[in-house]
Amino acid sequence: TPIAILISGRGSNATALIRACEDPSFPARICLVLSNNPDALGLEMAKKAGLRTLAINHRDFGKDREAHERAVHAALTEAGAQAICLAGYMRLLTPFLTGAWAGRMLNIHPSLLPVFPGLHTHERALQAGVRVHGCTVHLVTEGMDEGPILGQAAVPVLPGDTADTLGARVLRQEHQLYPQVLRHFLLQRPVSAPAECALLVG
Ligand code: GRF
Repeated sequence: TPIAILISGRGSNATALIRACEDPSFPARICLVLSNNPDALGLEMAKKAGLRTLAINHRDFGKDREAHERAVHAALTEAGAQAICLAGYMRLLTPFLTGAWAGRMLNIHPSLLPVFPGLHTHERALQAGVRVHGCTVHLVTEGMDEGPILGQAAVPVLPGDTADTLGARVLRQEHQLYPQVLRHFLLQRPVSAPAECALLVG
């Protein structure tokens, strides 16, 4: 299945998906890595992996979010994408893009949704005193971080954790979870959990 990845920054989740797609038995191939930020590190990683990349700078569209999304949508369609993976794509989406890709757009979020939607999830988890934190892959709907949950991975919050140490622990799980959930989503069948984490998919 041809998929496109949308990024805004360092692209470590995009890189995890790129690595997964290098396995011929993985049910996706990446037809485009697109960023709203022309300076995104992830674009360089994707180029190095020999992938087609494109930057569509939202700043060129002023305040018109939908005009930017129309340009993004045209590029995704032109590339032949059949599903979209948001991977650190830091734009709020309008109903135009969520509607156009309803049921075919995935996102990864660094918390166990529905707790801690939005930004600064690791700081908020520490502040709240939760003992378990993690990440979620979900379908994208109009409400931010609100779509149906496809899979989650949990990590412990350890004594002495800072947002950085906790965030790094979660990020390692993100890199495992996203490819596994994508595989499950594309094949529509359950996956097995890796031994070292509490991975709950499906
Ligand atoms: C990740 O924590 C992801 O969950 C969130 O944004 C961050 C992106 O990191 N949506 P990266 O660009 O994939 O390294």
